[in-house]
Amino acid sequence: MESSAIEARGLHKRFGGVHAVRGLELHVARGEVFGLLGPNGAGKTTSMEMLEGLVIPDEGEIRILGLGWARDGKAIRSRIGVQFQSTQLDDKIKVREALTMFASFYPHARDPDDLLKLLQLEDKADAYQSKLSGGQRQRLALGLALVNNPELVFLDEPTTGLDPQARQGLWEMVRRLKSEGRTVLLTTHYMEEAETLCDRVGIMDQGQVLQLGTPRELIASLNQPSYAELEFEGDAPDVAPFAERLGMPVEAKEQHWVVVLTDPRHDLQKVLNCVEALALPMQQLHVRRASLEDVFLQRTGRSLRD
Ligand SMILES: Nc1ncnc2c1ncn2[C@@H]1O[C@H](COP(=O)(O)OP(=O)(O)O)[C@@H](O)[C@H]1O
Ligand SMILES: [Mg+2]
Repeated sequence: MESSAIEARGLHKRFGGVHAVRGLELHVARGEVFGLLGPNGAGKTTSMEMLEGLVIPDEGEIRILGLGWARDGKAIRSRIGVQFQSTQLDDKIKVREALTMFASFYPHARDPDDLLKLLQLEDKADAYQSKLSGGQRQRLALGLALVNNPELVFLDEPTTGLDPQARQGLWEMVRRLKSEGRTVLLTTHYMEEAETLCDRVGIMDQGQVLQLGTPRELIASLNQPSYAELEFEGDAPDVAPFAERLGMPVEAKEQHWVVVLTDPRHDLQKVLNCVEALALPMQQLHVRRASLEDVFLQRTGRSLRD
């Protein structure tokens, strides 16, 4: 039987008094796009770096593509790709030069010009990497991780700080990696990213994976299929008469109310009837389905964006 891409059991890492990773268990199948989703400080990078062989765990076991770091580090390294922060590159290096330099480390490297095409950086081949936009720089960093044609690719917050369009571009590349049969482990604190890109997601907080599954499974576990958000012009009116008449819990924010629709077919009608009956000055009504953000909120009582 073919081994998994990643197997981690009982990983722990402490930095002085900080217990950064507490008992991480992870199984990632080949061909999967797996996301670790969590806020800053959750332990995502430390987890990633242990799996990449850059940080030695205090406890636990790691198998990468069926191999262990202690005995087969060199073999593992030749088969994985790690996205570096491109800020670690010399400012005076040009895009094609960087790809060529990285290619020289490997016996069967990909042709830099093919990579430039894949990354849509052909017209930037002779530009200094320091002159690239954020999105271009992230694509270059991804390209450097792909030089050795890796079976398994590690991407640590690949789209942090990118504008929506650049983010879409990166997502497209990740989808492409999957379609080529590669395995991807990525970290993110953007729930949309985890939701649209990942086959499975581990929700991480304070060094632990709190919940793990497909985005659909995680969201379904809430038993809260959707939410209605009622917006008002200016501040929202007193919520009490509405909540009483509706007979469902209403979360009142400063400028809008949120109602959980457990049965959208009936509940939405009730909401509208109450708005009508009380002649509320509602300006906008949004219905949105539950998201991974809501899963995180329910598990931790905090927002991912804190
Ligand atoms: N080299 C280090 N020395 C000391 N503390 C560290 C080090 N690396 C990470 N930490 C701490 O470990 C915790 C997890 O950090 P990290 O793995 O970077 O989380 P994330 O990537 O989810 O933001 C944080 O509290 C962080 O400050
Ligand atoms: Mg990090």
